Amino acid sequence: MKLIVGTQEEVIKKAAQRYVKLLNEKPEAVLGLATGSTPLGLYAELVKLCAEGKISFAKCTTFNLDEYIGLDGTHDQSYRYFMNKNLFEKVDIRMEATHVPSGAVKSDEEAEQYDAEIKAAGGIDLQLLGLGVNGHIGFNEPLTPFTSMTHIVKLTDSTREANKRFFASIDEVPTHAYTMGVRDIMQAQRVLMVASGANKAQAIKDAFFGPVTPQVPASILQLHGDVIVIADEAAMSKF
Ligand code: F6R
Repeated sequence: MKLIVGTQEEVIKKAAQRYVKLLNEKPEAVLGLATGSTPLGLYAELVKLCAEGKISFAKCTTFNLDEYIGLDGTHDQSYRYFMNKNLFEKVDIRMEATHVPSGAVKSDEEAEQYDAEIKAAGGIDLQLLGLGVNGHIGFNEPLTPFTSMTHIVKLTDSTREANKRFFASIDEVPTHAYTMGVRDIMQAQRVLMVASGANKAQAIKDAFFGPVTPQVPASILQLHGDVIVIADEAAMSKF
């Protein structure tokens, strides 16, 4: 694992450079993407780099990690909507090459189909991850089997609590979601985790400086051969 620590601004710039390098070397790369607060600055930087002609998404394919069940893509808290507004509509990507599980349906077939599409695309070249305060990656909550593929999850109270800031009340936060599994994430060629803020410090410590255990889903990344963690000083404050 390679660890890069910097200011918030450096974190964004350094993460963005990974995409410039990858997409210049392999324009048809398959990107695994994340939502949440963490990637917002990175996506804004990628939009800027695309407008400046330094990066192009025209040939790439994307797969998002997860989606709430019960919200369709037009709901402003769905992850499809988030991706459209923060990245896809602002860069030169082909919309049909962007994939987010459909939260409009709840079925195991949808999950299986998602994995089949990732496989058909040739697998993920670079998987972007944020880190949950409980150590989750995607919506793989503590005790998710390391062997899991895309599946339906019941969200934990702590995750619903952490995400309620985006909804009018906690009752509106969906109870279930689709998530790529831990194995999907481990099968990516490269993983880029971005973490910022003091509320991630314990999760960073548990994930990368403690035992590998399903109690801390992100800890499995210690066994991945190509992981870069880019974190700000606050997120590294317990190390
Ligand atoms: C989102 C995702 C989640 C988040 C994590 C951190 O697609 O997969 O694992 O990355 O919950 O969320 P933020 O960035 O909002 O702190």
